[in-house]
Amino acid sequence: MNSLLYLLLLLAFQRAESSGYLELSFKSDFNLKAVVNVSSSSEDVSPTLIPFHISPNKTETLHKIPINLKDGLTYQLSIFVINQDRLDIDNSTVTASFVPKQGILSPLTVMFPFKGIKINVGCDKQWFGEKCDVFCCSETASRVGKECNALGQLGCPEGKRGLDCGQKIAKTWCKCKNQGKCISSFGKNLREKMQCACPVGFSGAHCEKEVPTIEVMSTYGVDPKKFEIGTAKMLYDSVIDNEMVEVSRPHSSHLLHNLKINDA
Ligand SMILES: *[C@@H]1O[C@H](CO)[C@@H](O)[C@H](O)[C@H]1NC(C)=O
Ligand SMILES: *[C@@H]1O[C@H](CO)[C@@H](O)[C@H](O)[C@H]1NC(C)=O
Ligand SMILES: *[C@@H]1O[C@H](CO)[C@@H](O)[C@H](O)[C@H]1NC(C)=O
Repeated sequence: MNSLLYLLLLLAFQRAESSGYLELSFKSDFNLKAVVNVSSSSEDVSPTLIPFHISPNKTETLHKIPINLKDGLTYQLSIFVINQDRLDIDNSTVTASFVPKQGILSPLTVMFPFKGIKINVGCDKQWFGEKCDVFCCSETASRVGKECNALGQLGCPEGKRGLDCGQKIAKTWCKCKNQGKCISSFGKNLREKMQCACPVGFSGAHCEKEVPTIEVMSTYGVDPKKFEIGTAKMLYDSVIDNEMVEVSRPHSSHLLHNLKINDA
């Protein structure tokens, strides 16, 4: 290994801050006017408020809301919703709280008036890992004939291995579970290791661990004067499968579901 290559490898792994974002998508059968409030357990960061509209059956996506993943902060989402089609049952608040990790899963179920909620955590360009705190410079990587793999290490293109990436990865070596992909990875010691790149919903060295989904909770503001059997049925039946879930799994036994009626 020549020293220039070694220097380039070091450069490729230089660390700075972590860098990640939240991306939220929503779907509903109604015309909704909503505000999402993204706040964290850190008092140094003020909450982000984003107003948005939803039209029936159209996916509304809020892109790249910056968040901090590396300090283990708990994030809270609260979505305040005015239902413009059902004014008797407007003012619902949907909340979810979680510690963000890259690729975090959406809730398995959602509440009226939503039928789909997607909560994704992504890393900014050149940042990798569960906490988006592994830096890998793709330009430097390509100068040494490699690329940054899913773990933020230098690796070979998919299916290849070896210092010159000239050999094929044999299926029989691969110990990745749950459809994880076997990838080559050159750490700082420049020794090649086979590692697993896990699909959404799984983590662990061999993708053997299930990543938990987020749970959401809902509170409805209902005008008691207009509260009818139909409304009650609609609200009590309001927990439905999330149309936008990435991985389907059996529902957890404790669906958090609150019905609050304003006593105006
Ligand atoms: C946003 O959420 C935070 C934390 O729950 C709360 O303190 C703040 O008042 C909320 N902001 C608005 C405008 O609702
Ligand atoms: C939304 O889609 C559902 C299912 O595809 C359909 O039944 C419903 O009529 C649609 N609503 C509107 C307003 O297009
Ligand atoms: C919803 O909130 C708005 C503004 O806060 C209020 O004017 C309206 O009466 C509320 N509706 C219900 C059904 O509580």
